[in-house]
Amino acid sequence: MSFNLDKITRENVKGLSPYSSARDEYVSDGSTMVFLDANENPFENGVNRYPDPQQRGLKAILAEQKVIKEENILLGNGSDEVLDMLFRAFCEPKQDNIITLPPTYGMYKVLSGINLVENREVLLTNDFQPNVEEILKTIDNNTKLLFICSPNNPTGNSFSTKAIEELLNSFNGLVVIDEAYIDFSSKESWVSKLANYPNIIITQTLSKAYGMAGIRLGICIASAEIIAVVNKIKPPYNVNQLTQEKATTRVLDKQAVKNEVSEILAERSKLEEALKTVSFVETIYPTDANFILAKVDDATLRYNQLLKKGIVVRNRTTQPLCANTLRFTVGTPEENNSVINALKELSN
Ligand SMILES: Cc1ncc(COP(=O)(O)O)c(C=O)c1O
Repeated sequence: MSFNLDKITRENVKGLSPYSSARDEYVSDGSTMVFLDANENPFENGVNRYPDPQQRGLKAILAEQKVIKEENILLGNGSDEVLDMLFRAFCEPKQDNIITLPPTYGMYKVLSGINLVENREVLLTNDFQPNVEEILKTIDNNTKLLFICSPNNPTGNSFSTKAIEELLNSFNGLVVIDEAYIDFSSKESWVSKLANYPNIIITQTLSKAYGMAGIRLGICIASAEIIAVVNKIKPPYNVNQLTQEKATTRVLDKQAVKNEVSEILAERSKLEEALKTVSFVETIYPTDANFILAKVDDATLRYNQLLKKGIVVRNRTTQPLCANTLRFTVGTPEENNSVINALKELSN
């Protein structure tokens, strides 16, 4: 394999220098200074100053926890923003293409539409694994990004390590491994293999296991060279002050996150066991995430029946390979009891 970052970076991005904001040029080291450089309102209210555009404090903690360097991290307004930045840094509109593996997270397709980049879809196999042979056949000289969601949404399973390794080794573009659900998984994160692959990008988020969907904090992890390219197009203040503060407090509270994940996993087992007893549930797919995909007799009928009982699940029946499936997010013990009781009532 010969991965060449310069070759896959968009021409216009190569020549860009990022916008240099007032806070880029002088970042406080904690000593008392008079800040008259950024046209801010000087009266203190906690958020009257621009946030650190490079989020140094938060990155330092994340780098330590993930055993990487700060230069390997870029943060975004949710991982959705990170994914969008990857399109804008690497894909030439109307010329380049990306590969996605449906059924998978819907934003990759939406972003390809927004960015005018062809989305080449290679269906997962019937057991929801990447079809490596077909993917390799679909790649051409204009393929820039390959999106691998593992654990995958909506199927819940992790992809085989061997398949992902083969793709990393054979593809000259960037392999984006979306690890939104990695904290619920028994499999190791690909972050530990960062140094082995020049073309790997890992995305993570505080929206799932960390319980912070509302603050919007996405994490992009890659080589320092890749991160430097994406930094050129990053809006200067994409991660606001309140998000940086909340995220810092939360990532430092590792035990609280661990306890919640353990409880969610125990509840997931409870929900799986209950689903097995429901007459109209035909298949419960293996999951490494905080949700369960189940095949039922008639997904739309069951979805509407649950709605009437005040319970909203996700009907995935229109997704390829997902006919008559419902996706159940694991809730609190009380919420899970409600859905279990509702399913039992409908099961009679
Ligand atoms: C696989 C996957 N990636 C990314 C996201 C979006 O994450 P964020 O909230 O960080 O934008 C989701 C949200 O559902 C997801 O399922």
